[in-house]
Amino acid sequence: MLAYPNLLIRRSQILLPNGEFLVGDVQIDRGKIAQVAPEISEMSLVGEYRQIDGTGLTLLPGVIDPQVHFREPGLEHKEDLFTASCACARGGVTSFLEMPNTRPLTITQAALNDKLQRAAAKCLVNYGFFIGATAENLPDLLTAEPTPGIKIFMGSMHGALLVSQDEALEAIFAQGSRLIAVHAEDQERIEERRSLFAGHTNPAVHSQIQDNQAALLATQQALALSKKYRRRLHILHLSTAEEADLLRRDKPSWVTAEVTPQHLLLNISAYEKIGTLAQMNPPLRSLHDNQVLWQALLDGVIDFIATDHAPHTLAEKAQTYPNTPSGMPGVETSLPLMLTAAMEGRCTVAQVAKWMSANVAQAYGIANKGAIAPGYDADLILVDLNRYHPVLREEVLTKCGWSPFEGWNLTGWPIFTIVGGQVVYERGQLNLAARGQALRFGN
Ligand code: DOR
Repeated sequence: MLAYPNLLIRRSQILLPNGEFLVGDVQIDRGKIAQVAPEISEMSLVGEYRQIDGTGLTLLPGVIDPQVHFREPGLEHKEDLFTASCACARGGVTSFLEMPNTRPLTITQAALNDKLQRAAAKCLVNYGFFIGATAENLPDLLTAEPTPGIKIFMGSMHGALLVSQDEALEAIFAQGSRLIAVHAEDQERIEERRSLFAGHTNPAVHSQIQDNQAALLATQQALALSKKYRRRLHILHLSTAEEADLLRRDKPSWVTAEVTPQHLLLNISAYEKIGTLAQMNPPLRSLHDNQVLWQALLDGVIDFIATDHAPHTLAEKAQTYPNTPSGMPGVETSLPLMLTAAMEGRCTVAQVAKWMSANVAQAYGIANKGAIAPGYDADLILVDLNRYHPVLREEVLTKCGWSPFEGWNLTGWPIFTIVGGQVVYERGQLNLAARGQALRFGN
């Protein structure tokens, strides 16, 4: 029994795998793309099809967001898997990879299973969960399934998820072969600099405490370990010009890196406007860093984009620095931010789709996603590239209820979001009955 009809999306501007566009039709059968053609005759279709008129809209592969913090279990006052997946649907994110710093931490198979069960019950989009490294859970890291990889917080974390000792780090790189994703900030340097800036309450010092050097030191260490063991490494949210230059000189074929829209589009000037809402880890940097990161992305030194969606409530953010938590939400705004940049001529729409979908699928070995072609999963978004609309606090679906980009006038908002052939979001309405699926990874 199909819970949803087959689809025929008509007359949209379809992004093809070669980066060119075709104005035409897409036939979706049982959640998969069956046919892409200039015109598909209704006479050729057998059975019931819902037709969607895509005239004037652009059809892109759904966004795969490879770094989010969705807070369930344990921190549901900030976000939960249901509210986060609604925000994903609105933002065109059809799959996400979530991080282990929930309560309990996702550091065992049992905790991973629990998240998978929760997601199956309430997520409107597809899901995968990282397993978190501690200094003690090597056996779990070797066997946990399904997971996109091992997450290591080298710094900027407290408790069991902080793995900052050289021996513990090396032991993780030395054993096993699955992907290791690092939050690369050097804990020792952060702690030293914290005491230097003790007593400062201006959140702008956050970028001086957790400075470029702290990020570079950790990225250098992760890169050295990855080279020593030829271990698949992914560097999460690259934030500095220095790290981008390092990778430009020295990036083995088994290393990938990502950048967030925040680190491309916001910088330390944001503290004056939005105060602690601009506080995140790794912190916002300078305009120069923005520019170097953009160039690195354009040149393929950086492979793809992640939001690091890290919601905290406005009440939590209203405390005084350094008591304020780091992090900002992002899944609702990442695609329109990048498509707006494309419309401004900073990159192409095809590049945005590559950075937000195809390259992520490739890096994590997610089969049949990231392209609009027969046989691929029907995870698709229809966006309007010609209608600008501001980011409004009253419209966001993330439970935290704010965005660092409020007031930004963006285009490329999803009009339809389709997950596995189910319409999960349509012109402002969610389909609350839709459910995503657990992702599988070829790593
Ligand atoms: O700013 C951040 N917030 N960076 C992280 O790595 C963690 C995240 C969170 O979970 O709040």
